[in-house]
Amino acid sequence: MSDWADDVVGKVLYDEKRIQEAVEELGRKITEDYAGKELLIVGVLRGAVIFVADLIRKIELPLEVDFISVSSYGTSTKSSGVVKIVKDLVVPIEGKHVLFCEDVVDTGLTWAYLREVMEARKPASIKMCSLLDKPAARKNDVKVDYVGISLEDQFVVGYGLDWKEKYRNLPFVMVPKG
Ligand code: IMP
Ligand code: MG
Repeated sequence: MSDWADDVVGKVLYDEKRIQEAVEELGRKITEDYAGKELLIVGVLRGAVIFVADLIRKIELPLEVDFISVSSYGTSTKSSGVVKIVKDLVVPIEGKHVLFCEDVVDTGLTWAYLREVMEARKPASIKMCSLLDKPAARKNDVKVDYVGISLEDQFVVGYGLDWKEKYRNLPFVMVPKG
């Protein structure tokens, strides 16, 4: 299934089954918590695309979906904390319950920036749902409201997470070789 990536896959941390279990559990909680509310799911491009596609099909509510793209200045493996919006939302968020979705929250700098910018637009609420969370890597006190899987501070790839822009299409999350 991933022979084409054998030269980069060091260790598979979470296989497809483990990821789907986490996604289903998140979908259940979100369905419960947002029942009767105007829910807008916002995927943070590009890492969250695969997660959002799977997650929204596990949420049994009439939700809206939008995407935002942010770039952080720095190398591909280290966040600098300087974030800017490259592609803004299409949908207005005022009065809505906005749930941001990330592939991973690492330093927390992207999420802190997004939250500050989005709060000015007066949503009814604003929360974060991340497939992966690395609490030990945090450089601020932002919290992730919905966490799929919490892991140690290490660089991981697959299921949306890239390594030099590639390997997002691996169906599992792995630690690269070397
Ligand atoms: P933060 O601002 O440091 O929380 O970083 C958020 C972004 O950094 C994520 O959305 C990812 O795009 C990227 N990132 C952080 N850790 C990893 C990783 O282990 N693999 C791939 N990308 C990562
Ligand atoms: Mg990302």
